[in-house]
Amino acid sequence: MLPDVGRVVALVLLTSILCLPQSLRQAGDRDGVLVGTAVRPSQLSETAYASTLAREFSMVEAEDAMKWAILRPDQATYDFRQGDEVVRFAQAHQMKVRGHCLVWGRYNPDWLTQGHFTTRQLSRLLREHITRVMKHYRSQVFAWDVVNEALDENGDVRDSLWYNQPGIGWSQKGTAYIEQVFRWAHKADPHALLFYNEAEGEGLNRKSDAIYTMVKDFKRRGVPIDGVGLQMHIPTLDGEIPAIIATISANIARLTALGVQVHITELDVSLPVNSNGLPRPDDLRRQAEVYRGIVRACLNSAGCTAIQTWGFTDKYSWIGSHSRNARGQALPFDRAYQAKPAYRAILEELSAGRSPAH
Ligand code: XIL
Repeated sequence: MLPDVGRVVALVLLTSILCLPQSLRQAGDRDGVLVGTAVRPSQLSETAYASTLAREFSMVEAEDAMKWAILRPDQATYDFRQGDEVVRFAQAHQMKVRGHCLVWGRYNPDWLTQGHFTTRQLSRLLREHITRVMKHYRSQVFAWDVVNEALDENGDVRDSLWYNQPGIGWSQKGTAYIEQVFRWAHKADPHALLFYNEAEGEGLNRKSDAIYTMVKDFKRRGVPIDGVGLQMHIPTLDGEIPAIIATISANIARLTALGVQVHITELDVSLPVNSNGLPRPDDLRRQAEVYRGIVRACLNSAGCTAIQTWGFTDKYSWIGSHSRNARGQALPFDRAYQAKPAYRAILEELSAGRSPAH
């Protein structure tokens, strides 16, 4: 009896392995979900990096190459070389490109932040930047993070160069400056999808409430916004995870109910690591379950149309330098481009597809 049961189990396992799609992008294609990752152009010449990227992903985003600090070495210059490399790679491998990001209080060049510009000058500089960059990438970048991280943890508009230091003319007027730049962006490229991208507003909290309120207001008044990017840099594996995933699902559901898309834009799940960079036993498995839960939360809302990780190999993740090497191992591939349990969990969940209601 037992050997037969064993054989059946083995057969079922084998069938499920054989029936799984061959890559994340293939699995995502079945339901029209884009599977993306952030990339650094300097790494595209590394064979293992490029082949893994092209095989697994249907979308890329420049991790830094389209930010002000790279695009604008000085006021007179637009340096599109690194961004163009990303676009060229994507076109050669039938991938979509997300643009990141046009307006952010950080990662700006010194000439801009320390230039003592007046409100009028800043407003002109920003409008010109948005217009020039979006026109350069017209029909190549299908969706832009127009504004990144404009809210604080209380849901108030953050102090920033663009808001009130000195701002582009809407200081102390809440989300009015965000509205202004969405309007400029829509003029610059009417076909691009325009996203508001934010950190730590993925579940239900004051920040995500503020995003929801802003998007609802924008939609009601016809401000051109197409989506919300939820970053999802997740630093936890604790017992609260199922509850966290439930609130993420609820947040995605309420946003998509407003008629906007949701993209998961910067997913990584960092682990505490020892001085050799190794995680605690069992954390890789727990990490896989977090990835699985996030993918499921996206698939359960028809309006969640893209899942993107912030890099794909632990070899190049930003988490190490960001945490002084106290954390790491955050991505689905290890440093040698071997798939981790997280990869398998994402693949399985994507392969299972959207829930029957959709
Ligand atoms: C990070 C990049 O990964 C790093 O390479 C860079 O040094 C700093 O920026 N939220 C964002 C991303 O929107 O642009 C940030 O990317 C990570 C946090």
